Amino acid sequence: MTMPDYEVEAAEYDSTRGGEPRARAAAAAIERLLPPGPVLDVAVGTGIVAAAMTRPVIGVDLSAAMLGHAVRRLPGRVARADARRLPARSDSVASVTAIWLLHLMPDSEAVVREVARVLRPGGVLVCTVDKRAAHRLAEGNPAMPGARDERARVEALGARYGLAVCGEGSFVGHGQEHEPVFPLLALAKG
Ligand SMILES: C[S@@+](CC[C@H](N)C(=O)[O-])C[C@H]1O[C@@H](n2cnc3c(N)ncnc32)[C@H](O)[C@@H]1O
Repeated sequence: MTMPDYEVEAAEYDSTRGGEPRARAAAAAIERLLPPGPVLDVAVGTGIVAAAMTRPVIGVDLSAAMLGHAVRRLPGRVARADARRLPARSDSVASVTAIWLLHLMPDSEAVVREVARVLRPGGVLVCTVDKRAAHRLAEGNPAMPGARDERARVEALGARYGLAVCGEGSFVGHGQEHEPVFPLLALAKG
C-alpha cells in the first residue's frame, strides 16, 4: 500500500480519524503501558494523541503540514525528523510511542532498530500493531497476515534489537467506521 500524502491529509486528518474521542482513548491506553516520565512520540502527526497525554511529550514527524498542527498543540516540543534517524542520543529515552506508523513503513525494521537504539535500558516502546487487520475485523472480514505491523513481525523485530514484549492493550477507534479496536504492544529494552 502506498503511504497517504500527509502534506494533503493534514487539513482533514483530525476530523477524518476520530478527532479528540479517538485521541483520548488512544492516550489513556498508551499511558497505562508506559513508565512514568516524558515521552518521545515518533510520527506525532497533528499532535492530537500526544496532547491528550497527561505527561510531557516531544514529537517528531516527517510531514511539515502535520507538524504545522502539532506545533500549535505542543509549542516548542516538535521537530521534523525521520523515524529511522531520530535526533536522540543512544540509550537516552525512557518512553517512545509510535501510533499508526509501522503499518505504513516498508522498512518497519529500520524504525524498530532506531527506537531500540535511543531507548535507555528499561525504556519502553508502545506501538500499534495489526492496524489494518483491526479495520478488516471490524468490517467482518478475516485479518490478512503479512502486514508490515503484524504483531508477530513486530515481536520478532523487537527481539532482534533487544526489545521484549512487556505489555499489551488496545483502544477503540472512535469516529472510524465500525469503530475498530486497535491493538497496542509494549516492548521493553533489556
Ligand atoms: C496515520 S498518521 C499517525 C499520526 C499520529 N501518530 C496519530 O496517531 O494521529 C502517520 C504519520 O506518520 C508520519 N510518518 C510517515 N513516515 C514517517 C517517517 N519515516 N518518519 C516520521 N514520521 C513519518 C506521517 O507524516 C504521519 O503524520
